[in-house]
Amino acid sequence: MSSIVILNGSPSLTSRLMGVIQHAEAYLSAKGYPFQRIDVVKLPAEDLIHTKLDGSKIVEANRILADADVVIIATPVFQASYTGLLKTFLDTMPQKGLTGKIILPLHIGGSLAHLLAMDYALKPVLSALGARHILGGVFSVDTQISRLESGGMLLAPELVARLDIALDELAAELDRRCSMRSGAATGADSPEVCSALIGSLGVQIQ
Ligand SMILES: Cc1cc2nc3c(=O)[nH]c(=O)nc-3n(C[C@H](O)[C@H](O)[C@H](O)COP(=O)(O)O)c2cc1C
Repeated sequence: MSSIVILNGSPSLTSRLMGVIQHAEAYLSAKGYPFQRIDVVKLPAEDLIHTKLDGSKIVEANRILADADVVIIATPVFQASYTGLLKTFLDTMPQKGLTGKIILPLHIGGSLAHLLAMDYALKPVLSALGARHILGGVFSVDTQISRLESGGMLLAPELVARLDIALDELAAELDRRCSMRSGAATGADSPEVCSALIGSLGVQIQ
């Protein structure tokens, strides 16, 4: 079971958002946290457009999300909001499908003018889906990410610093939940043990 899911709402797998996602993935790997990524664009378009709740890939994606302790939601800003693609997937989720999960939003936009898209567009929907623990999130401007000839992406140091602060906060939250639930007696002192414990005990955040 994966305890962290990255839900990627970009219609493009070559978007500079991938630079942000890859940074988060590298961070999680270095810390030893298991994670899985759901690229919504890879799910069957017909099922998403018709909100086909019983589509096998949709069911599978929702099962992975249901098992997650943490959901990192990554999306570009489209029309001062998040993407319609991401919404087609959120519409397939159970009514309170984000209850008890720690959420970290990661936005990318072409302009800082739409910085508040996260607060005014994304967070209300997450809240309606039951999320009560939404971390501050990180808004990156696409000019902070450069495509390298090698195929990789280079993030501006300022962006890296903000991402790392947010990811540190996420890790601290996971560890805090772990020790809260396990108590001193369990000897939970590694991310793997922590994740396993959180998974087995369930996270109930109110
Ligand atoms: C259809 C569409 C709508 C967009 N709307 C906005 C917007 O309202 N505000 C904004 O800051 N950026 C907007 N952008 C820019 C993207 O959020 C963002 O910069 C981009 O996805 C990252 O660039 P890349 O995918 O080309 O790497 C829009 C992009 C597209 C394709």
